[in-house]
Amino acid sequence: MITAIRDEKNRYRNLQNGQWVESRNDTYITIKSPIDDTVLGMVPAMSKEEVDMAIETAKKAQKQWRNVTTDEKAEILYRAADILLKYKEELAELMVREISKDRKSCYSEVERTADFIRFTADTGKNISGESIPGDSFPGGKNNKVSIVRREPLGVVLAISPFNYPVNLAASKIAPGLMAGNSIVLKPASQGCLCGLYLARAFQEAGVPAGVLNTVTGKGSEIGDYITTHKGIDFINFTGSTEVGAHISSITSMVPLLMELGGKDAAIVLEDADLELTASNIVAGGYSYSGQRCTAVKRILVVEEVADQLIEKILPKLEKLTMGNPLDRDVDIVPLISTNAADFVCELIADAKEKGAKLLFGGNREGNLIQPTLFDNVTTDMRLAWEEPFGPVLPIIRVKDKDEAIKLANESEYGLQSAVFTQNINNAFYVANKLEVGTVQVNNKTERGPDHFPFLGVKASGIGTQGIRYSIESMSRPKVTVINLSNN
Ligand code: G3H
Repeated sequence: MITAIRDEKNRYRNLQNGQWVESRNDTYITIKSPIDDTVLGMVPAMSKEEVDMAIETAKKAQKQWRNVTTDEKAEILYRAADILLKYKEELAELMVREISKDRKSCYSEVERTADFIRFTADTGKNISGESIPGDSFPGGKNNKVSIVRREPLGVVLAISPFNYPVNLAASKIAPGLMAGNSIVLKPASQGCLCGLYLARAFQEAGVPAGVLNTVTGKGSEIGDYITTHKGIDFINFTGSTEVGAHISSITSMVPLLMELGGKDAAIVLEDADLELTASNIVAGGYSYSGQRCTAVKRILVVEEVADQLIEKILPKLEKLTMGNPLDRDVDIVPLISTNAADFVCELIADAKEKGAKLLFGGNREGNLIQPTLFDNVTTDMRLAWEEPFGPVLPIIRVKDKDEAIKLANESEYGLQSAVFTQNINNAFYVANKLEVGTVQVNNKTERGPDHFPFLGVKASGIGTQGIRYSIESMSRPKVTVINLSNN
């Protein structure tokens, strides 16, 4: 399938009005593998005029798409899911190279995405409106009834991140389509080859010309232009808090749905099952080298069990494998860029300098950073507050659950938290007080299953995602009031 979206010189094209078009001004961005810098391909660095065309096309096509029956839309989505699975190997291989993710996780990302798309079709088919009688409000009469249906918003701008280039693009496209919108997909440059591949799967499944269009290009050149474009009716963005805050500051009167950064805490109480806790902390903190918004990013452990917890974590860290994901399935992979690795190393250096105790790791070879664990991290250290997006975890010792809650809530972020305890009262006590979108009891922080609501508070996001929630976010109620004269 990949040959349909690129030419013999390995120049990828964009999907516009049902055609795969090359750069009109012959300007390209080179996409290299973070693993070994090999060139994977080139994508058009689209101009503002090309962005205009993508959005105008989407605007026109949406007028027909909104009238396609829900059942027909669902059928297209089911076919897209099948196509993804059919090409799973080719897509996973591209993903390994493009974003340096281990092969097993790439396979599971494609499978999870197919499940997501199917479930979105099922959910879309089961969304219905309501009718509200007028006489239930004080003074109301029974001559009025409100019929409430959902209708699409128009053109959805879907901006997907590098770390889940298929799943976090599809989780915007599928609900957006199901709600009757057309989509302009602007993937992050690293990951955009996978994004284009996904678009091809939707096209092959039968998404009509113009209903899904892709835009590749430099954020610095077209980022502000596309997000403030008058043709865009909704923006669904996943990425850093910095970029999310910028988008929110320059847009006006356009609804936003955003999943941003996090500093998810694993809170470990004195009665936790420490074996289970340690397994979850290691899986939650280090998988894909910590490059997940929902990764465990700090451990707040009650002093009396801190040493025992460390004893359980260290052997698990020793077992983590690291290296080149092209050679074998490894847990720790090279980070997405040298800048990303430099940033993680800054946080490590700051923690060392301010007296944190290095328990494990701390070394770097190129962009590959050892899984790293610090004890005795204090609140004056950057690692206590900043999101590394890398394989490094701070342990902050606390005297009790209240101190853990206080520290957890002092973060600017509020995506998720985990609490480990065998006492249901303590679990609820902590969960009720945490200022986050989701609290996981006795499990690592994580987004799925994908039909659960997923949201961040404070600097972690705006709005709620999750299959039904995403469809609702990308549609609005339309109210028709019937006024009867003979009642
Ligand atoms: O990176 C952000 C993703 O939404 C995290 O998803 O919890 O399934 O890894 P995940």
